Amino acid sequence: PVLVVDFGAQYAQLIARRVREAQVYSEVVPHTTGAADLLAREPAAIILSGGPSSVYADGAPALDRELLEAGVPVFGMCYGFQAMAQALGGTVSHTGSREYGKTDADISGVDSTLFSGQPTRQTVWMSHGDSVTVAPDGMAVTASTPGTPVAAFEDDERHLYGVQWHPEVLHSEQGQRVLENFLRKGAGIAPDWTASNVVEGLVETVREAVGEDRVLCALSGGVDSSVAAALVQRAVGDQLTCVFVDHGLLREGEAEQVEQDFVEATGVDLVVVDAREQFLAALAGVTDPEQKRKIIGAQFIRVFEQAARDVVKDRGDEQHPVKWLVQGTLYPDVVESGGGEGAANIKSHHNVGGLPDDLQFKLIEPLRTLFKDEVRQVGLELGVPETIVWRQPFPGPGLGIRIIGEVTADRLDLLRRADAIAREELTRAGLDRDIWQCPVVLLADVRSVGVQGDGRTYGHPVVLRPVASEDAMTADWARVPYDVLAVISTRITNEVDEVNRVVLDVTSKPPGTIEWE
Ligand code: XMP
Repeated sequence: PVLVVDFGAQYAQLIARRVREAQVYSEVVPHTTGAADLLAREPAAIILSGGPSSVYADGAPALDRELLEAGVPVFGMCYGFQAMAQALGGTVSHTGSREYGKTDADISGVDSTLFSGQPTRQTVWMSHGDSVTVAPDGMAVTASTPGTPVAAFEDDERHLYGVQWHPEVLHSEQGQRVLENFLRKGAGIAPDWTASNVVEGLVETVREAVGEDRVLCALSGGVDSSVAAALVQRAVGDQLTCVFVDHGLLREGEAEQVEQDFVEATGVDLVVVDAREQFLAALAGVTDPEQKRKIIGAQFIRVFEQAARDVVKDRGDEQHPVKWLVQGTLYPDVVESGGGEGAANIKSHHNVGGLPDDLQFKLIEPLRTLFKDEVRQVGLELGVPETIVWRQPFPGPGLGIRIIGEVTADRLDLLRRADAIAREELTRAGLDRDIWQCPVVLLADVRSVGVQGDGRTYGHPVVLRPVASEDAMTADWARVPYDVLAVISTRITNEVDEVNRVVLDVTSKPPGTIEWE
């Protein structure tokens, strides 16, 4: 792999993603990993990320010179660039000239591997207080900016490269090409991380792990669990059974999408459990968001465990009890939980409804090395229908946490129709891939006065919450064109009785979460 050493900023994951976009496999490792351990993994290259520290501050993450002398190609970015300079005997100083945001880099001076084939001036994105003032011996200075004379350096012989800016952010206009030049020309790595290779490798891994055992998967209809299921199905065929719990908190057409489209495309063995009444009964009278989540999670587990027992009984194959549970854990979850192994690290809301610790299954997480966009590519490669592959995220507790107030069958029905209209119009406007997701929220205990036809109405508002995001950790409210909003508003108020007002949520995250509960 290409190892991205994380010096403690939010950039390392993004760098790993960009490397993968260049079709090279990469992983994030903490900066506390020793040089010997890093090298033991036989990396094809090492990238040193940015970070918040100053290289000569007390306790600043150190860079072991040994790493730069092992013959492995290294690319330092921002803090990584400065750490490299310092480790190799250059000078990093607090010059008092800080650069934040966009600036122009001049790369006209010398031949360069990183910048070959690029314009001699390029906009780059900077964020630094310290600067490299003297490049280490043997390093050619290859770029400068108005505030930073030594803004990039390289030594082709030792395969060492560095830039002061952040090539991984989109504001650095040539960033991806700089990175690709490093990977291809600087490190000589072939682009072979492709969807079909990934599928092949993962199928093999799952097959080896599972052997003859029986596997169970809780299918939610979301991208991750669907692709994980399709992958395991490809690997072990009908040793896999999927359980889809219809808790009645789904959106329009969702259950059908899973029951028909998904099964048809993948051939998985699917058990659908209709638990709608059970969930509604459990939610009766409950308005507190956390309590709703807990109830939904607990019901889910109950239904799922029963289904698991039934599967074994129905298959009449006592030789092969269910040993494995498929989870759609993704790489960002793994990185955020410290890269450790096992169930304990999975954030509870990525366990469908929060499965309990004492569940007697081993976990199989075929997607744990993948980013979301890669999961989608793998899904397409496996023939998972596009309607599922490009689905926007939908929370496990479903519409239950989009009704502010008590959840009832009537309210669910009303919200389902409003949501279907919003989705339909956003799709029609071609906005599905610009918008991360657009929750539609019913303010069930709020009423306002309206006028419709010739009469006064006294109905409920629904809230449109379109957001743009890369990973749901932060989000901005999406600037959906007014015309599209107008159509959605008109249609919802016309077609959904009891809704007489549509409002737009213009809060980013933070401070607002994406969901309302
Ligand atoms: P928030 O509301 O925390 O949501 O900004 C971040 C993302 O997570 C989704 N979400 C959930 N997904 N189970 C899930 O599988 C949950 O309980 C859950 N709660 C929130 C939300 O839709 C958004 O994409």
